Amino acid sequence: MNFNIAVLDGDGIGPEICAGAIKVLEKIADKYGHTFDFTHLPIGGAAIDECGTPLPEKTIQGCMAGDSVLLGAVGGYKWDSLPVDIRPEKGLLGIRKAMGLYSNIRPAKLWKSLANSSPLKYELVKNGVEIIIVRELTGGIYFGERRHATENGVEYAEDTEKYSVPEIERITKIACELALKRSKKLVSVDKANVLESSRLWRRTVHGYCEKHYPEIEVRDVLVDNMAMQIVKDPSQFDVVVTSNLFGDILSDEAAQVTGSIGMLASSSLGETKRGLYEPIHGSAPDIAGKDIANPVATILAAAMMLRDSFELQKEYQAIENAIQAVLDGNYRTADIMEEGKIKVGCKKMAQLIADAI
Ligand code: IPM
Ligand code: MN
Repeated sequence: MNFNIAVLDGDGIGPEICAGAIKVLEKIADKYGHTFDFTHLPIGGAAIDECGTPLPEKTIQGCMAGDSVLLGAVGGYKWDSLPVDIRPEKGLLGIRKAMGLYSNIRPAKLWKSLANSSPLKYELVKNGVEIIIVRELTGGIYFGERRHATENGVEYAEDTEKYSVPEIERITKIACELALKRSKKLVSVDKANVLESSRLWRRTVHGYCEKHYPEIEVRDVLVDNMAMQIVKDPSQFDVVVTSNLFGDILSDEAAQVTGSIGMLASSSLGETKRGLYEPIHGSAPDIAGKDIANPVATILAAAMMLRDSFELQKEYQAIENAIQAVLDGNYRTADIMEEGKIKVGCKKMAQLIADAI
């Protein structure tokens, strides 16, 4: 089959890790008889430098014209002091919104061969960890009204957390569909003891599940307790649904529990099969250009694209197996390096994975 993939390399290590993923995709194309066409488009700081805006119109058009989007990462010191509206992050938030990608799925999985990389005691992770965070991505405080003003000589700022019933229902549906294929258990995270938006969230999730997915068991966990439970007993969680902000924070925490944020990918989808796939880590400007970044998260993001946007399950599995084989072969990038293992760079890691397919 033939697919057009828009590649948003972005900043920092973005171009290196995308190159690694493209190498692996080319191997898949070869082996399984597909054609992938890659169109590179600017986003983030790179786009600010090239076009004066973090999300040029041609990038939005190019993403909408393709079958799916692969993104590296955005941001860097260079653009840190720019006004908020032209910062690199605005490019990422903008493309999510422009493509209507309201559902962000972030699986935090502990690779068996990396159990030692987890900062938690072996006892706590020995049963494996696989927490799938379903994060609402185009609503809440990220996109609510903001104000920054001075009143009676006092400076203040405000951001608004706002959720509608349809927004909560559609993300609940995504989480339920996932839970149905797995443990049939869903955890919904909110702060309903304080926030009105969370009370609506909780009531809507329950109402929706009772009506449409009665076989799913829903458990509510307050976000502060959730932060604690993730490090206390991560194996208790399977599918977790939550708001944009809570999902942002908890997915970093869950990722760290699995050892390296350099191993985890995410998918962002809306009503169509056209999604945006990216590693969950950032642009790591401190290690950019040194060929030491871990390309696995981006390679896994590309694999998720094959599975979730192109319905190429076999090809997804081939990539996951190749990653496992390379880890079993004791190859490690710097972020997951342990004594007695073989340290490799970004390019080499991607090559090893491509070769293992
Ligand atoms: C993420 C990032 C982004 C977010 C930033 C870069 C805007 O932290 O994808 O988790 O907060 O969503
Ligand atoms: Mn984040």
